[in-house]
Amino acid sequence: MITPQENFDLQPYNSFALQVRARYFCAAQSLAQIQSALEFAQANTLPLLVIGGGSNLLLREDFPGLVLQVALQGIETLSVDAHSAVVRAASGENWHQFVCHCLEHEYFGLENLALIPGNVGAAPIQNIGAYGVEVKDFINEVTVLDIDSKQVQTMSAQACEFAYRDSIFKGRLRARKIVLGVSFSLHRQPQVNCSYQGLAHALPQDGSTPSPQQVFAAVCSVRRAKLPDPAQLGNAGSFFKNPIVAKAVYTSLQSKWPEIPGFAVPQEPQSIKIPAAWLIDQAGWKGKSRGGAQVYEQQALVIVNRHNATPLDIEELATAIIDSVWKRYQVRLEPEVQWVPAFDSTQ
Ligand code: EPU
Repeated sequence: MITPQENFDLQPYNSFALQVRARYFCAAQSLAQIQSALEFAQANTLPLLVIGGGSNLLLREDFPGLVLQVALQGIETLSVDAHSAVVRAASGENWHQFVCHCLEHEYFGLENLALIPGNVGAAPIQNIGAYGVEVKDFINEVTVLDIDSKQVQTMSAQACEFAYRDSIFKGRLRARKIVLGVSFSLHRQPQVNCSYQGLAHALPQDGSTPSPQQVFAAVCSVRRAKLPDPAQLGNAGSFFKNPIVAKAVYTSLQSKWPEIPGFAVPQEPQSIKIPAAWLIDQAGWKGKSRGGAQVYEQQALVIVNRHNATPLDIEELATAIIDSVWKRYQVRLEPEVQWVPAFDSTQ
């Protein structure tokens, strides 16, 4: 049995540090507690919001139902030999701590994803990625609880339909499954990925192949230099996705803006990914504010809570950026952060 707390302050549970409240809140440390929380929500016909670390959320108003934080803990090695290891982590484990655990045990592959805020359970939902690596490349299986049937199910990586910052959990299965744990297939022999421009300069320049520990250290230093620490300045990482456009659209943008950066998209040879940060930066948004919300000076893709921002301040700033980028480039930015209630692109 679990007894949710009433009229609960969510400020410590969202990395924007917005002052919003939940009608009910509980943190579940076991499957039984999750099931009990679901029964409570259903018995009282309450809307349900499942959260992990709260680091990719824009809570636009007080939540009128039950906020359920999945706080399951535990990391176990399921199999290991000289070449590979399969490691399972429970949803509520902190992502960065899990990356450190893997590196300490010489389970390699996740080093580029160091310092991403949030918990393990969110990793498959939005297919977290950074510095040339996406978590989908290492996910073996995802264990979920089906909200309707209350059955625990195992989904293969293929069944998760991973794409750039996307998965079936954001699409067809949105709000239908609760991620309980994730198993990862990792390397035992170092296989570093230093392909991302911007990472190389933080690595030793002596021509040697960097070790996974060096890549980890480089990623941490680049992230610390560019991205604000949510513990010090409220934010939710990249606020927008990098838009993916048809090659022809990119070519026509290039004729007007010759410096516009563009990157190939794996599995989509006819498309180009444009850094949203460049579009926003060139449109003059760096450092601009609406109320207490501000576009971060060091990285135009991040919106920060500079002075007690309200959800509306963030929303107005984000909407003004979307409109301005649309007017200038005819490219439609989409939030990467999950809005609750959901973002409506027709607004
Ligand atoms: N740029 C600007 N102005 C800026 C910042 C960047 O013009 O203020 C341009 C530069 O041309 C730069 C390019 O944008 O080369 C790309 O910038 P950066 O390498 O910083 O990466 P990003 O596209 O801004 C993405 C992810 C980040 C991830 C980094 C590193 C998305 C939405 N964001 O950012 O993920 O850490 O790459 O791999 O894909 C997150 O999802 O929360 C996140 C932080």
